Amino acid sequence: MLIPNNSPVYHPWGDAEPAPEWRAVFGNNNPLALEIGCGVGDFIVQMAALHPDINFIALDFYNKGCIKTCKRIEKAGLTNVRVLRAEARSFITACITATSLHMVIINCPDPWPKLRHRKRRLVNSEFVAYLSGFMVSDADFYFATDFVDYGLDVAEFMSVQSGFINKLVPDTYRHYLDGYPISKYMRRFMDNGQPIYYVHYRKT
Ligand SMILES: C[S@@+](CC[C@H](N)C(=O)[O-])C[C@H]1O[C@@H](n2cnc3c(N)ncnc32)[C@H](O)[C@@H]1O
Repeated sequence: MLIPNNSPVYHPWGDAEPAPEWRAVFGNNNPLALEIGCGVGDFIVQMAALHPDINFIALDFYNKGCIKTCKRIEKAGLTNVRVLRAEARSFITACITATSLHMVIINCPDPWPKLRHRKRRLVNSEFVAYLSGFMVSDADFYFATDFVDYGLDVAEFMSVQSGFINKLVPDTYRHYLDGYPISKYMRRFMDNGQPIYYVHYRKT
């Protein structure tokens, strides 16, 4: 039984329901950004405060994380974030119009460290090609991970991914990204002395 989420910044949505009308949901026509796997929301709260003219959708299928994210957003008094509990692909396919996202953010996705589980990883070339169809030209794609193998893999396939330019040239990844907030998982690993692998591309 799920704990109900009655927060005003929570946007309930189920697979069978029509796509939200984002302009009506946010009350303006500001650019739309998506964070996939927002966890407990510490990143999105900082990011949304830094970019008040962008509307952020914070997405996660973890109900308690969504509840915590909503509480943080309410506490910060932010009006430019809505939280949705859904699986990324089904949500995006159903609720995001083609070429409408100005930013896609994925921080510390589940690493699936065992070799036989790697195919379960969310981020791969095929997933980025899928996301690309929902992004406007010039949209930013941010990926961050604490997991070396995942970071190197994304840095490598993105360097030859069609339709994107690398914003970190001459590097394919960095361990620091100016102005980019730190998420809960990033903080945990940084505190253990483990570097974060950041990748930043822009759709052409
Ligand atoms: C390791 S946590 C990282 C949370 C946060 N981004 C951070 O850096 O602190 C990964 C999160 O992604 C969510 N997640 C994983 N796959 C997902 C999917 N396909 N759709 C929506 N959320 C997903 C999980 O529920 C979890 O909260």
